[in-house]
Amino acid sequence: MKLILCLFLLGMVVARGVERRPVNKVEANVPPYTLPELLVCADGTKVADAATWQNKRRPEILKLFQHEMHGVSPGRPAEMTWATANCDKAALGGLATRKEITVWFGAGKSGPPMHILLYTPNAAQQPVPVFVSVNFDGNHTVNAEPGITISEQWTQDRKTKQEQLARPDEKTRGQSIGRWEVEKLMARGYALATIQRADLEPDYETGWRHGVRGFLLEKAGRKEFAPDAWGAIGAWAWGLSRTLDVLESEKAVDAKRAAVIGHSRMGKAALWAGAQDERFALVISNDSGEGGAALARRDFGETTAEINNRFPHWFCGHFKKYSDKESTLPFDQHELLALVAPRPLYIASAAEDLWADPQGEFLSALHAEPAWKLFGLPGLGVREWPVVDQPVGATIGYHVRTGKHDVTAYDWAQYLDFADKNMGAKK
Ligand code: GCU
Repeated sequence: MKLILCLFLLGMVVARGVERRPVNKVEANVPPYTLPELLVCADGTKVADAATWQNKRRPEILKLFQHEMHGVSPGRPAEMTWATANCDKAALGGLATRKEITVWFGAGKSGPPMHILLYTPNAAQQPVPVFVSVNFDGNHTVNAEPGITISEQWTQDRKTKQEQLARPDEKTRGQSIGRWEVEKLMARGYALATIQRADLEPDYETGWRHGVRGFLLEKAGRKEFAPDAWGAIGAWAWGLSRTLDVLESEKAVDAKRAAVIGHSRMGKAALWAGAQDERFALVISNDSGEGGAALARRDFGETTAEINNRFPHWFCGHFKKYSDKESTLPFDQHELLALVAPRPLYIASAAEDLWADPQGEFLSALHAEPAWKLFGLPGLGVREWPVVDQPVGATIGYHVRTGKHDVTAYDWAQYLDFADKNMGAKK
């Protein structure tokens, strides 16, 4: 009887195909781990100066992240075009100009269009710095203004797997307003450019068919992705870079002072965009967690197996082999953060967001700091995890906020202060 039970249980594990390590949320149970050396090249050369970092170590790390985690993203398509769909110079009660810009990636306006919602402050006398971000559920969720277009999105029913292309309900207008401090940004002399995730890729396993990955795959005459081809996070990060391409020709915006910012999975995308695209002058990760700022080898919160199983479309095929095998990764996330150096970086955590491993996010920033030191920049300036609601850092900013997984007014207040110091907002 016992034997039968054992065989049955074993069968269940085999049937599931994976034997997952349980998720640890207890600090005392974090096993020891060794991180890969940030400042030692693959051939053993020690990195002691900024030039060796920039010309040798940085490209080497970037390549590893491309081939083993995020996949290789294409460049800007030669056929990319865009047009202003509408413009309201008296948005937000006269505080801002609101523009909607449609971007097409294929010839003759073909392919899935990307919709940019751009707010610029009317009080500005000269081009302003800009925050660039992917929103989760649609541009119309960022603010309740009735003039924001609710555009169609592909979604999938979780149970039936039925897909549909539809315009989200009017009642979702402004539903994420608490995560976007648009009025405050305008008052502080910043622009905001945001794009919706489903335009680049609807966020489910087969969503790529309706996004830029599917479009460009078909254009290349292929049916399947190579194991080092980009994933959904790569596609969202790519959308951020394409948005910056457009902003470079927007007169009201100073695209040389662009901060890329994102929350959670979009924090992962923001980090990846900032790592690849050195035009982003500031990179901000809000609660990005596993696959974002948090160290993979530190066994706390979400694991590589969890993320690969629940979100198989986020990373490239090669990343699957690291499920429950974090110690075999050829890098850790501190090296992703270091790719931002010498540009300013801000990492934010939330105390109750254990799934994202707040302390692991801090440690990752700490272990990335030597890259900034090569440029004579101070980095974090502290060694210990700060107490809650106590922002620290100079060229690497960090705070752990009271509360849950979210983007709050407190988070934005820190980002604006950090941006003022590091991107020099001029009103
Ligand atoms: C899930 C996922 C996280 C992700 C988060 C989010 O919780 O496991 O990795 O960051 O969703 O994007 O909100």
